[in-house]
Amino acid sequence: MTLTCLLLFLIHIVVVKNSETSNNVPAVIVFGDSSVDSGNNNAIATVLKSNFKPYGRDFEGGRPTGRFCNGRVPPDFLAEAFGVKSTIPAYLDPAYTIQDFATGVCFASAGTGYDNATSAVLNVIPLWKELEFYKEYQTRLRSHVGVEKANEIISEALYLMSLGTNDFLENYYVFPTRRIHFTVSQYQDFLLSIAENFVRELYALGARKLSITGLIPIGCLPLERATNILGDHGCNEEYNNVALTFNAKLENVIAKLNRELPQLKALSANAYSIVNDIITRPSAYGYEVVEKACCSTGTFEMSYLCSDKSPLTCTDAEKYVFWDAFHPTEKTNRIVSNYLIPKLKATFR
Ligand SMILES: *[C@@H]1O[C@H](CO)[C@@H](O)[C@H](O)[C@H]1NC(C)=O
Repeated sequence: MTLTCLLLFLIHIVVVKNSETSNNVPAVIVFGDSSVDSGNNNAIATVLKSNFKPYGRDFEGGRPTGRFCNGRVPPDFLAEAFGVKSTIPAYLDPAYTIQDFATGVCFASAGTGYDNATSAVLNVIPLWKELEFYKEYQTRLRSHVGVEKANEIISEALYLMSLGTNDFLENYYVFPTRRIHFTVSQYQDFLLSIAENFVRELYALGARKLSITGLIPIGCLPLERATNILGDHGCNEEYNNVALTFNAKLENVIAKLNRELPQLKALSANAYSIVNDIITRPSAYGYEVVEKACCSTGTFEMSYLCSDKSPLTCTDAEKYVFWDAFHPTEKTNRIVSNYLIPKLKATFR
């Protein structure tokens, strides 16, 4: 009798456990820029780093990881929501092995863009190289878990892409090289043709579930406000319009890819409206400061300029929309993730 009870109990556990984990996302695989980088730049020769305090002060153990944030970034929250893991390790971090990467890995690099010329500005990992690392990862995964299991992980994994901001704010509007050859609209089309090819290559390599995030209101980043002198330090509306039109074109590219690649499920994880709502009505979300970032003067500092030496850095980042002059706080990342999670779950479950 007791034994029967125990058996029934164990069967119950197994059934419940299986239904809990039947979300069919065994791994989360990330491509992009600082919006999703979890520390790859620590391992390369660039000045664009964040593996020192105060970065990471609200991360597990108060540890700076190379995330451009006081805490976690959206892929961490999304992976957690899918029951995979609570932080996604960077592929180039020597503290992790293929065993860790089998359930999630990040190839993103802060400062990169779709355009090769963007990654060249600060000598970071170009998007094509992120894909080369991913190919190497596939090989390592197959030898670690076997071909069949690896192929299952590859096709069932959730792929996240988030980039594009640097193409405009670190490249197009800073250096004349691209502006001479492209109008804004042409440059958007150029970037999106690279995005389209990238997805086709990823699909050919076995990826099936893909979420792509375009641009947030990039004209409202504290650095862009600080430099918007003619606009009285308000949001740069030209940049916001670039983001809106880019996102609209991205939706078309995603629709086309879904039509043409039969087994692809691609979702446009558009974060513009939620971030815009936060910026427009910060107090509704419990924020006190939106124009300036938490770190230092909050107007232009990021990376090495966001230093632990500054006495000006805020004490409670939860009151700030932005952590440094270019990146949201963990709180903003959490709100954006919670907004996207139901859409992702509806698409990929
Ligand atoms: C970017 O650089 C890589 C490596 O040199 C090259 O294969 C690729 O075609 C370039 N992309 C574009 C759009 O020029």
